[in-house]
Amino acid sequence: MSSAAARRNLLCGTALCTSDLSAQPLTRAILRDCNLVTPEYELKWDVIGRHPHEPDYSAADRLMAFAADNGLAFHGHTLWWHEAIPESRRANQSMDFAQAALRHLERTVARYAGRLRSWDVVNEPLEPAHGRQDGLRVSPFLAAFGPDYIETAFRAAAARDPGAILVLNEMGLEYAGPEAERKRRHMIDLLERELARGTPIACLGIQSHLTALEQPRQHPAFRAFLRTIRGMGLSVMITEMDVSDHLCPRDPRQRDRIVADTYRAYLDLVLDESRVLAVGTWGLADFSTWLNAFRPRPDGARQRPLLLDRAFRRKPAWHAVRAAF
Ligand code: XIL
Repeated sequence: MSSAAARRNLLCGTALCTSDLSAQPLTRAILRDCNLVTPEYELKWDVIGRHPHEPDYSAADRLMAFAADNGLAFHGHTLWWHEAIPESRRANQSMDFAQAALRHLERTVARYAGRLRSWDVVNEPLEPAHGRQDGLRVSPFLAAFGPDYIETAFRAAAARDPGAILVLNEMGLEYAGPEAERKRRHMIDLLERELARGTPIACLGIQSHLTALEQPRQHPAFRAFLRTIRGMGLSVMITEMDVSDHLCPRDPRQRDRIVADTYRAYLDLVLDESRVLAVGTWGLADFSTWLNAFRPRPDGARQRPLLLDRAFRRKPAWHAVRAAF
């Protein structure tokens, strides 16, 4: 398949939280511009497991039904993430935690087996600053299962939904600088170890939380990384793309132009170097971005990081992403 045809087959999606689905303009915008949805919260363990004795899948079920009713692909996010552990499980990291974590993963994957396209099975496994030789994050999952926890998670997910594309998802692989380079090196070593032992990882999720005026346009180190990943036979999913404009001037039109240019340069690079299964943004319209909390602008103005404005009108960023395909 030519790269142009492959690009047209890509899914372009967004992260959603089910409270949005009551907003007609949003659902119209989703149906107009997306063919893939990812739950921002509803499939995280701390949401499903918020009642210690009874898992709550109601919100995830609503989003899954919306996707199925409208022919949208569904990307599950995320089964094991150190930032999304239920309150009741945070205290202990013993066998009890291991049993609870594995039970949650198995029950959740089995519930949606055959109905979703892909899963972020493990999210953000690396944290070089923790000082481990292998760069693994010192998380409750590592404490409970040991370094084999990634293999445990992927094998359990594959056993319960053999048709799902299983993704290892990470933040910051696309950044510039020595810390990001260390993380890319650790990720290559991790994937080589896991693939050598037969861990069923099919795809590397690159979150792609970019920063305008900081993200390198050419980025040879990232290009080389993507080539290595492709050489390992792995596909790539852009799982959470957005462009923070906190370093940009205040003028909205100037910000929109700089953000659009950042999207275009980034996608041109990744689409050139990788077999990309899907491109998802983390939010569809500017009103719902997490970046106002995670990366507030120094001048207090609201971020404009996504493809649609607050009224769901297509911005220059939407046209830039579309042109990259
Ligand atoms: C974020 C949500 O967008 C926030 O609203 C929430 O407070 C924290 O989690 N990487 C991930 C996502 O994998 O799950 C995170 O989502 C953003 C960073």
